[in-house]
Amino acid sequence: MSLSIPKMPLPSPIPDREIIDPTLDLEAEIERLKKERNAIVLAHYYQDGEMQDIADYVGDSLGLSQQAKATDADVIAFCGVHFMAETAKILNMEKTVVMPDSDAGCSLADRCPPDVFAEWLEQYPDHVVVSYINTSASIKALSDIICTSTNAVRVVESIPADQKIVFCPDRHLGRWVMKQTGRDMVVWPGFCVVHEQFTARKLIKLKREYPNAELVAHPECEQSVLDMADFIGSTTQLINHVVNTTDVEEFIVATEMGVMHQMRKRRPGVKVIGAEPASGCECAVCPYMRLNTMEKLYLALRDLKPEITVPKEIAERAIAPVERMLALG
Ligand code: 13P
Ligand code: SF4
Repeated sequence: MSLSIPKMPLPSPIPDREIIDPTLDLEAEIERLKKERNAIVLAHYYQDGEMQDIADYVGDSLGLSQQAKATDADVIAFCGVHFMAETAKILNMEKTVVMPDSDAGCSLADRCPPDVFAEWLEQYPDHVVVSYINTSASIKALSDIICTSTNAVRVVESIPADQKIVFCPDRHLGRWVMKQTGRDMVVWPGFCVVHEQFTARKLIKLKREYPNAELVAHPECEQSVLDMADFIGSTTQLINHVVNTTDVEEFIVATEMGVMHQMRKRRPGVKVIGAEPASGCECAVCPYMRLNTMEKLYLALRDLKPEITVPKEIAERAIAPVERMLALG
């Protein structure tokens, strides 16, 4: 009996990445290209320490949007994930925005497809749509106002008390904002693959090991983790808390480990312990953020690609909700 093997479409070939001479002084080359291109490098706290150190500005998603709006550079090299670079592009349609690796997505943004979201929204016609910045430009275009983890409470509190609200896409941030504001919201059931890995069970063990440590956590963590936390905040707020709480020497950090670089840099000697994810890995890293490397940043500045683009009609609808958020600060 002969077996018939179904014909499968062949994947399109992906060109090999250029091999960079490992002896090249990448830091010096990046600095040279920044001047030559009149470029600014913006980096999120979840990038590797050396990438944070070469950036002109390192921050959280709110700070990065504010910097993107303020810059007079011709080129923005965005070391972060796709939705962050897209937001920078929406704010700067005339500028060139590049990323080291444009495949650096985000589990929250990727699991909120605009066609499905638009259909889901039809059930809530009289609701104001508050979208977390961790969404695609198309979702922003369907929203009334954007928020980040720094200003989500402020954004929701700016909406009249009797107004119904839809919040997307992070269920944990949504639940935390409801608790902080006392507002009821319809929440899209999204989650972050990095923050959902932290569990109360593992943290109880770590707390036993470090009884004097404070637990600081990002609001994208599960409720049971947030219930245990001594302090909850965005990446900037977590860093500032660790730097400024000088009567505490040890901190357990429940977010992506990139933030620990800034904590140690700004408060030398502080002991920061990364919360262990459920997978048993030693450290929590965002697999998307970490696709960006120094080599790819060098190539992005040299070749001005991969370039981030947003269709004009989407950008024209997405800018108002982003600007509304920036006006609130
Ligand atoms: P921040 O806005 O706190 O930097 O968070 C961004 C993010 O992606 C968290 O996972
Ligand atoms: Fe997205 Fe989570 Fe990575 Fe943040 S840590 S960029 S929410 S996948």
